[in-house]
Amino acid sequence: MMNVLVAGGAGYIGGIVSQLLIEAGHRVTVFDNLSKGHREAVPEAAAFVRGDLAHPEDIAAAMRQARPDAVLHFAGLTEAGESMQQPARYFRANVSNTLNLLEACVNAGVGRFVFSSTAAIFAANDALISESSPISPANCYGETKLMVEKMLKWFHAIHGLRYAALRYFNACGAVGPRGEAHDPETHLIPLTLRAALGLRPDIAIFGTDYPTPDGTCVRDYIHVADLGSAHLKALDYLDTHDTITCNLGNGAGYSVREVIDAAIEVTGKDIAIRETARRPGDAPRLVAASDLARRELGWVPRITQLPDIIGDAWTWMRAHPRGYQP
Ligand SMILES: NC(=O)c1ccc[n+]([C@@H]2O[C@H](COP(=O)([O-])OP(=O)(O)OC[C@H]3O[C@@H](n4cnc5c(N)ncnc54)[C@H](O)[C@@H]3O)[C@@H](O)[C@H]2O)c1
Repeated sequence: MMNVLVAGGAGYIGGIVSQLLIEAGHRVTVFDNLSKGHREAVPEAAAFVRGDLAHPEDIAAAMRQARPDAVLHFAGLTEAGESMQQPARYFRANVSNTLNLLEACVNAGVGRFVFSSTAAIFAANDALISESSPISPANCYGETKLMVEKMLKWFHAIHGLRYAALRYFNACGAVGPRGEAHDPETHLIPLTLRAALGLRPDIAIFGTDYPTPDGTCVRDYIHVADLGSAHLKALDYLDTHDTITCNLGNGAGYSVREVIDAAIEVTGKDIAIRETARRPGDAPRLVAASDLARRELGWVPRITQLPDIIGDAWTWMRAHPRGYQP
């Protein structure tokens, strides 16, 4: 059993991972400013501290309360498109705030740190993306995550902080009472399902002239339950290893159009499509090779078929058409 502080644990992925940590017997304290997250997403069995990573005194207070053996860091801004309009906000939220958290970890003697990195650090690639594939973020969001990966390297070298940097590809799906509820929502699957529910008129495709088989961007969709199991395995891994930086994807690429077609199939609804211009910062193709995570962490993604992933998201969306709003 470990004491785990989960920064960003009221968010989509952090809330689900918090629940899985509790089920695995850990004592969880969620730290979140609720700027994007939802109090309802925090498991009942977790302690909750409302605070902001921009304020070191908030973090210090949470450290005193949680006395964490490990910190999981999900908190930050997540929109690649928005980062191309507001770079300063992204560097502050994702880099400066993470620096505050890392300093607090060192001061509190925290042994393990797990960081939510992203596929957005990589250059677009026609081949599967391994950890040694070319790194070249297409947007400021990806750059902020890369900067944190670099900070982690030095915090390990200088302070001995053991860390896992987990590069998620596209998180999706739902687990029980927790699902995806960003505001504004920009992710393809929930937006498409909102269109299926009649909560929006259509689903936009940003760019149909990419160098991909059907001209729309190709991504790797990884179920949030599988991301969760990787976090548990990463925490264990850091018992006996110093660091790991690895990709978490399921290795199958699906185009935007294929996802929408699958959603039409799963929901049985007509979904109107609106084709629009490309968005700045979108790479044509990002699909993971996750051999390192499989080999080192013993991780195996379980829910890899698009209809199953969309089916879980659909079940959640039908039960929560207004997200966490009553
Ligand atoms: N969703 C994806 O597909 C995806 C893919 C790759 C990486 N990631 C990364 O995973 C992490 C979690 O993503 P998510 O989709 O769950 O996002 P989310 O927005 O649902 O959750 C982020 C949480 O962090 C909190 N937060 C933000 N700034 C904060 C601050 N200054 N102080 C305290 N709390 C703060 C928010 O209130 C929110 O609850 C993010 O770091 C994101 O960049 C997500």
